[in-house]
Amino acid sequence: VEETYIMVKPDGVQRGLVGDIISRFEKKGFKLTGLKLFQCPKDLAEEHYKDLNSKPFFPKLIEYITSGPVVCMAWEGAGVVASARKLIGSTDPLQAEPGTIRGDLAVQTGRNVVHGSDSPENGKREIGLWFKEGELCQWTPAQAQWLRE
Ligand code: GTP
Ligand code: MG
Repeated sequence: VEETYIMVKPDGVQRGLVGDIISRFEKKGFKLTGLKLFQCPKDLAEEHYKDLNSKPFFPKLIEYITSGPVVCMAWEGAGVVASARKLIGSTDPLQAEPGTIRGDLAVQTGRNVVHGSDSPENGKREIGLWFKEGELCQWTPAQAQWLRE
């Protein structure tokens, strides 16, 4: 089953946007399988964003992600990776469509409030990085039969 790693970044936590962001995925109909507030250590931030480690903004990105607690989430469902990216919107919040999280709630790429995995493979990789086995929950939402025919 497809899964994605979604994270409210430190600016989203500091600005009190956690509930709004979680609510968007919840209302859409995806299944939450992991959730925690967490102070990210530098080595984990570097591992998570290792594909970007040659970019000029990399040190600032690591500083940003480790600057305060984040909210780590695992979400599951058919098509969840691409759909979550649509709900999140473009990397640059000024380019993100209204109605998306970044389009509604942010103004700058360096403070774009939320992360979402960019492929199913990275979804699995990132959930493995950020969560321990016992922190994830498998369950059947009561509304399952009302979401899919
Ligand atoms: P994530 O969901 O966080 O991975 O964002 P993304 O997939 O939309 O963008 P990408 O993976 O290319 O970049 C990861 C993160 O690095 C972005 O979300 C930004 O927080 C940051 N970032 C990317 N490009 C820039 C940039 O040009 N300047 C700054 N300051 N930050 C950047
Ligand atoms: Mg990315």
